[in-house]
Amino acid sequence: MTEASRADDGRDEAPPLIGPWAARPGGPLVGGARAPADKSISHRALILGALAHGETRISGLLPSADVMRTAAALRALGARIERDGNGEKAIWRVDGGPWRTPERALYFGNSGTGCRLVMGAVAGQGVDAAFDGDASLRARPMGRIAEPLERMGARIASRDGRLPLTVAPGGKGLKGVDYALPVASAQVKSAALLAGLGAAGETIIHEPAPTRDHTERMLTAFGGSIHIERAGAGRRIRVAGGQMLKPATINVAGDPSSAAFPIVAALITPGSDILISNVLMNPTRAGLYETLRDMGADLTFENERTVGGEPVADIRARHSTLKGLAVPASRAPSMIDEYPILSVAAAFADGDVYMPGIEELRVKETDRIDATVSMLKAAGVETESGPDFLRVMSGGGAPKGGARIDTRHDHRIAMSALVLGIAADEPVEIDEASMITTSFPNFAELMRRLGADIAPSA
Ligand code: S3P
Repeated sequence: MTEASRADDGRDEAPPLIGPWAARPGGPLVGGARAPADKSISHRALILGALAHGETRISGLLPSADVMRTAAALRALGARIERDGNGEKAIWRVDGGPWRTPERALYFGNSGTGCRLVMGAVAGQGVDAAFDGDASLRARPMGRIAEPLERMGARIASRDGRLPLTVAPGGKGLKGVDYALPVASAQVKSAALLAGLGAAGETIIHEPAPTRDHTERMLTAFGGSIHIERAGAGRRIRVAGGQMLKPATINVAGDPSSAAFPIVAALITPGSDILISNVLMNPTRAGLYETLRDMGADLTFENERTVGGEPVADIRARHSTLKGLAVPASRAPSMIDEYPILSVAAAFADGDVYMPGIEELRVKETDRIDATVSMLKAAGVETESGPDFLRVMSGGGAPKGGARIDTRHDHRIAMSALVLGIAADEPVEIDEASMITTSFPNFAELMRRLGADIAPSA
């Protein structure tokens, strides 16, 4: 499609992400776009801002549905959160201070990160709160958060270790804990660290493998003290209790998990050459990019710099001939949200892509191993899977496509399916696009600007 025809049919202004959408195979993706802001960092900036006494200013916050749920919960807990300006220029002001018991249950919609991190923070702040979410979040395990919080003295009441539940600080307030995480989860680690900030004494968390470390990095920006040491294959993290955080100025870097969608789309669409700017390159998040390079992807990292205490680069992606490989299981924590889109890249690779050590995908917004297998099968791609692995088998070239995908209300399955349809032989339709707004509200606009043919299909 030429620039002129793109402008003529108004495709730069994407229709709202509601109802069924379809991606049709078309020409190359070309041009540049700024990565949407990082979701993990956005949640943390709001939560730490609400804990700090005084006014925090956040630029580049992701205004996605999940992040707005966290903002609403923090307001109910007593923080004042306001936005000045619009779009990329918006500055969010968070006036934090002592928390109060909210009048109603805090509702987190689809957001596991918001819910779990706020559970930890609530326990540490000595207030009671009830937590709830949508059907997907109600099905996800919360016992993993409850366990360290209960060891610290919090009282968590739930029927079956899931939402809805209540968190109360317990009679004597929280005590620090020495806790080894049973799973490599940044959400569990962060919940325990946030609780530890308000506990008496030190909290020590052992993680079996390094997971995203935005809470740790950002705590320093808020004047907090934190010690991190390597320990075996993982890390030991210590925070002192009773810390009073100072307000900070935070600039949120772009999300590597969201940037993955246009980048993989360019790698699999012949003739493509795109530049996605401002992508977070924190090593605890960059596993997909390492893996794609190992598969032969033509990716270059330009203009490497630091944004808000985090490494950032602009990523240039050109159409590439990809080959199969075995992804090291040890890399899983650094690309845990990227397996569905990696599987789409794998569907175009010559040779098997074997992904072991990914049992955590079974407890994401949906069972992402199962959802990915169904998506690829419908599009004519062979797979094998087990409790903790996925293998995508392809002989190179484009898969057939021509399928309607049940996204199971999972944003990353929805975006992966649309990327598949851009480069498959025949269009791919998804049953529902609305969940995409949980993490990447301008997905359609950004993809269409690069030349992708995606549109509502009903
Ligand atoms: C996140 C941690 C990961 C990830 C999620 C965001 C975070 O979850 O899947 O999308 O911001 O801490 P787990 O901690 O459950 O692995």
